Amino acid sequence: MNILFCVFSGTGNTRRVSETFAGELAALGHTSELFMIKKGAPMPEIEAYDLLIVGYPVHAFNAPTTVLSFLRSMPEGGKTVYLLRTSGEPSKLNDASGITPRRILTKKGYTVKGEFTYVMPYNILFRHSQGMVSRMWKTALARIYRDVHIVDALQGDLRHVGPVRRSAAFVLRIEHPAMPLIGKTFRVSKKLCAGCGACAALCPSGNIRMVDGRPKFGMHCVGCMGCAFSCPHDAVRISVLNLWRVNGKYDFSGEPSTDDETCRYLHGMYNRYFHETGT
Ligand SMILES: Cc1cc2nc3c(=O)[nH]c(=O)nc-3n(C[C@H](O)[C@H](O)[C@H](O)COP(=O)(O)O)c2cc1C
Repeated sequence: MNILFCVFSGTGNTRRVSETFAGELAALGHTSELFMIKKGAPMPEIEAYDLLIVGYPVHAFNAPTTVLSFLRSMPEGGKTVYLLRTSGEPSKLNDASGITPRRILTKKGYTVKGEFTYVMPYNILFRHSQGMVSRMWKTALARIYRDVHIVDALQGDLRHVGPVRRSAAFVLRIEHPAMPLIGKTFRVSKKLCAGCGACAALCPSGNIRMVDGRPKFGMHCVGCMGCAFSCPHDAVRISVLNLWRVNGKYDFSGEPSTDDETCRYLHGMYNRYFHETGT
């Protein structure tokens, strides 16, 4: 099959999983291309592919609005689609993030065949330890090796999301109108910002413009954290979210943590996720 990955990734986790997934599909004889979802980027030629895989990070138990806008602007079609998402925690609440993408795609005539979730390190809230990051990646790899065979056989299943999880995700959809307002108040430290423009080049929502050598934040932020996370000088201040700022790339190599070393936050839930995968 010729497969198109349409991927939104603020801080690289979803991109990393998608690229690895594509590599494993190649080993099974499939070809694929990676299209990064970015506001204003021209729509890829979906007709040219046999299958689509839509990748996104979970934001407040939902999919980012840039992803939803992309799905809404896709042509009508009858292709098979898989959803691939990454999240910072292994909560089943994250399954609710598939509801709106599934609805949009189904309305357009696509068949959503399956959904995959990979737990990757948080890019907000707190920084996971080196050991946790390695264990998450080891687990993601084991799941990818398993999941590519599901795609290869065109099988898969969709997550059932009951009324409680649905309602929680619905309430947290407040993030969608709130994030552009919060994003508008992001600032850079005058002392630290070198005016390199890395944040503007990276922003998948096209929300950052360089004015007089300094980034200016607009009203289209989806809170992906790409700017703060990737700033080489740690110059981006994310206003009311600043205490939850996680800056700097993660190192995915190294010794995976043991069960005892699993973070205190949702300790049992993370360990269950690792054990479920046999890692
Ligand atoms: C604004 C925001 C909201 C988030 N909400 C959730 C969430 O509801 N559940 C969760 O497990 N992770 C959540 N995360 C963590 C990300 O989903 C996770 O770190 C993801 O792997 C980031 O992917 P990326 O690097 O491709 O952007 C959130 C991250 C951000 C920035």
